Amino acid sequence: MAQDLDKILGGKYPAKAHANRVADLIKARGGGDSGIIYIEGQKTRMIEDNDGPMPFRQRRNFFYLSGCELPDSYLAYDIGKDELTLFIPPIDPESVIWSGLPLSAADALKKYDVDVVLPTTDVNGYLAHYCSAEAGANKVFAIPDQVSSEITFLPFKETDFDVLRPALDTARVTKDAYEIALLRQANNISSAAHTAVLKAAKTAKNERELEAIFISHCMSQGCREQSYHPIFASGESGSTLHYQKNDDDLIDASTGQKKLNLLVDAGCESRNYCADITRVCPLSGKFSPESRDIYNIVLEMQMASLAIIKPGVAWDDVHANAHRVAIRGLLRLGILQGGDEQEIFDKGVSVAFFPHGLGHYLGMDTHDVGGNPNYNDENPMFRYLRLRGTLSPGGVVTVEPGVYFCRFIIEPYLSSAELSKYINAEVLEKYWSVGGVRIEDNVVVTEDGYDNLTTAPKSLEDIERLASGQA
Ligand code: GLY
Ligand code: MN
Ligand code: MN
Repeated sequence: MAQDLDKILGGKYPAKAHANRVADLIKARGGGDSGIIYIEGQKTRMIEDNDGPMPFRQRRNFFYLSGCELPDSYLAYDIGKDELTLFIPPIDPESVIWSGLPLSAADALKKYDVDVVLPTTDVNGYLAHYCSAEAGANKVFAIPDQVSSEITFLPFKETDFDVLRPALDTARVTKDAYEIALLRQANNISSAAHTAVLKAAKTAKNERELEAIFISHCMSQGCREQSYHPIFASGESGSTLHYQKNDDDLIDASTGQKKLNLLVDAGCESRNYCADITRVCPLSGKFSPESRDIYNIVLEMQMASLAIIKPGVAWDDVHANAHRVAIRGLLRLGILQGGDEQEIFDKGVSVAFFPHGLGHYLGMDTHDVGGNPNYNDENPMFRYLRLRGTLSPGGVVTVEPGVYFCRFIIEPYLSSAELSKYINAEVLEKYWSVGGVRIEDNVVVTEDGYDNLTTAPKSLEDIERLASGQA
């Protein structure tokens, strides 16, 4: 498997195939079969009142069509000629003393899957030449608000700002073998980093120590960037879905005791392709009985979700099924009461404990494009589901059920005239300190099921073994 990865990633990032795919989608959407796709990379941006640059993050759509990491670059794809031209910054003598020589056009041609490399000073000339040479209607496809002021589209007869972005969004949903290899590599390295954190959890004193171990591991294995701000949440902070502080002591100051659990939601990028993995472990090395109850329910939610993943399945149904598993589990524990599974589902009570979506598309963005969420959905159960629609082969999704004990979210249910009868406040009292449990893997939808990219341990036994310091 490692050899397969090396073999695939030893080739060039398939920019040309991506350009072909986007051109086909433009055509299918009535955009015609000629014209220029024009797209710009991210510019170097300076820190306010400072002479240093802000951290650089390449524009994802530009990378998709070029494989190029360089700031201040441009790309044009001539659909009729099937010719991909990359424009890269030329030598600026003023900056060589500080930054060294930039990549040469010859080296760029060797490195990237493009047909021509020109300096960025040639862009307007290229566009004007295209228009003068093109006898029929000439057209440029671009993304609104992502065309620099120094670029002129005046020579074009037609400018289309509508079709390119949706075509890119659609194209990016279906990952090819190279993209899946990058996602797998990000997963392999992030999974090993999660394991390193599990092993260190028992002796660490503060959340930030564990974050440092995670990032150090990813960087030393070749992945400098994190997919998102990592979440290292101890104790009740695990119930804050996107906890950002990562700076709390692992001992509870009020009791002098170690907090119960640590939730880690973290993943690195491999050449812009993201991993997004969550694991939870007991800080003592052994889950408390209540934590174990909840861990088992969440794992069951995840296993039940994975079992039904295949092409054609509606993601709404997988999400709803995870709610049903949660309801059955919470009824067994006595946290939920006063009605059967269907009644509690219909009343939306499980949203109090599982308030987010089961998962989202994953790719160059952690919450990747193409999911068509409806954040105004009247049903709170589906409001934060970032993927609506059916699964298809090559789609990559996260599967991340969770059960949380967040006072801010649950207390309104406890004081609701209609809903309070479904929650046993006395039983619930024993569970606040569990915080939150989420288990998150990244899977590729295949022709007949799925392929799980995430290799971080997750069985209760493996988590306890590693967290208690056994090899
Ligand atoms: N790490 C963000 C998420 O899981 O969606
Ligand atoms: Mn996620
Ligand atoms: Mn996550």
